[in-house]
Amino acid sequence: MPLEPVNVSDSLRKIPHTASSEHLIDLGNDRIAEFMLSSDETIENFVTCDFHLIDLAMTWLHDNHLITGNNFCEFGSGYGVVTLLAADRGMTSVGIEIEPTLVERSTALAAELNLDAKFYCGSFIPRDIGDLTEIAADIEHVDTHQGDIYQEIGMAMSDFDLMFAFPWPGESGFFETVFDAGAASGALLMTYRGRDGVDVVRKM
Ligand SMILES: C[S@@+](CC[C@H](N)C(=O)[O-])C[C@H]1O[C@@H](n2cnc3c(N)ncnc32)[C@H](O)[C@@H]1O
Repeated sequence: MPLEPVNVSDSLRKIPHTASSEHLIDLGNDRIAEFMLSSDETIENFVTCDFHLIDLAMTWLHDNHLITGNNFCEFGSGYGVVTLLAADRGMTSVGIEIEPTLVERSTALAAELNLDAKFYCGSFIPRDIGDLTEIAADIEHVDTHQGDIYQEIGMAMSDFDLMFAFPWPGESGFFETVFDAGAASGALLMTYRGRDGVDVVRKM
């Protein structure tokens, strides 16, 4: 697979957050806690990444001029916090989420923060990337249906320069396959790997 690892600094935690990203993460965490307490509905596949770590990784990628353009997309954007962090740093930022309630909540959070990120309800897996049946067989925590959401967005996966996802353990290979099939050369895929931190690969 022509994906090249990007060696992310071990010292990310020494990078400072901006005041606006601290505020965004705090407000996001508050809204997520309220949502979890108030909602009868359990969204099984929704867990949140370490927003602080991902914010620092994005700062590091920017500071080192490693992103080829300004377009960001989050695959399975949950409550939208990472998509909003990308918008807060001036990126054209899009979140794709399959659960309508989470899309509504993310859109409300964007309005509350007055940030110009857009959230779309559908599958981040485009129809035109070929047959995923074999690799999808072992995937439990991603809806593996392919859809037409990029038409609604008005951008193709190949228009995004930085993509982010938080795969469940053992499922990161699925995201890399979809990214490899749909992204442009030079684009980056950043994934949150729980205790293993953050991983970044570039499509060659
Ligand atoms: C582990 S959560 C991560 C949420 C968010 N990215 C974060 O890091 O806080 C994965 C999210 O992906 C969503 N999801 C699963 N399959 C999807 C698909 N095919 N397209 C879009 N979203 C999907 C789930 O509903 C869930 O909200």
